[in-house]
Amino acid sequence: MNISHNHSSRVVAFAAALLVATSLASNARADDSEGIVVYNAQHQSLGQEWVDAFTKETGIKVTMRQGSDMQFANQIIQEDEASPADVFLTENSPAMVLVDAAGLFAPIDKATLDQLPEEFRPKDGMWTGIAARSTVFAYDKTKLTEDQLPKSMLDLADPAWKGRWGAAPVGADFQAIVSALLQLKGEDVTAAWLKALKDNGTSYKSNTVAMKAVNAGEVEGAIIYHYYWFGDQAATAENSKNVALHYFKNQDPGAFVSLSGGGILKSSQHQKDAQAFLKFITGKAGQAILKDGTSYEYAVGKGAASNAKLVPMPDLQAPKIDASDLNSKKVVEMITAAGLI
Ligand SMILES: [Fe+2]
Repeated sequence: MNISHNHSSRVVAFAAALLVATSLASNARADDSEGIVVYNAQHQSLGQEWVDAFTKETGIKVTMRQGSDMQFANQIIQEDEASPADVFLTENSPAMVLVDAAGLFAPIDKATLDQLPEEFRPKDGMWTGIAARSTVFAYDKTKLTEDQLPKSMLDLADPAWKGRWGAAPVGADFQAIVSALLQLKGEDVTAAWLKALKDNGTSYKSNTVAMKAVNAGEVEGAIIYHYYWFGDQAATAENSKNVALHYFKNQDPGAFVSLSGGGILKSSQHQKDAQAFLKFITGKAGQAILKDGTSYEYAVGKGAASNAKLVPMPDLQAPKIDASDLNSKKVVEMITAAGLI
């Protein structure tokens, strides 16, 4: 009995050890094939430029999954500790704030945070800025002269602008702009401006479509981000040949500069490689990709230059915004209540 008992418990122990070994091996295989998993809500082309350069320099493989800011933020919260994501990159800050508030980020290495000026990262150090983009009024230069342009983004709510402007309220970019407006001017002003867009303006499904509509003479102007115009100009200019950019400046809500974010999931089993990836994209080589690549977004690293074609960041006269306090939930509620989504 005893012998048999010992024997069977040894068999059980051996089987358990085998199971552990097998599962370790299969984990290792998954790691080998996928490397780190990046949920990329930044533009796919920019994400790919960063990933390719990082893998080339470090040999660390990256699997990039493509999605949008809020889609991935909500997915990460749903997945919780089981999330396959190691890194999350966004176009704008509100999605970062959401994941941070859920307590799902790991602190960013100090050496990485030190690569960025304080204005381009949240105070809590749980995520970091990786790039920046400016709000603009893309207008039809064949119809509007400079003196006819709105002085403030809020002027577009004036009945004089009825039927003449548009935006892309379903997108994360627009939602970030509205979250800045909410932080700067409060709920009443923001609700009134959204109502004006609903009543007076045209809703397009993306910034690109909005710019095309301006170019085609459908509306005289649209609130978008700057790089859509620069990207098109650098390519064929076919969607922007009649379009010029108006920068509101003067700390106007329409001069909002939005911070793209990068964070590392607390649940990641590849903390070291994930940290290395964020260090790379916020470092010299990663930021140079913003200057030399096709994104036309602003570099945010200390001493990092942006593309020389862009209006220099200090000249944008952006309003002071606390990126770690941009309220996406409230904004989505308000955009929905206004009947825009
Ligand atoms: Fe965008």
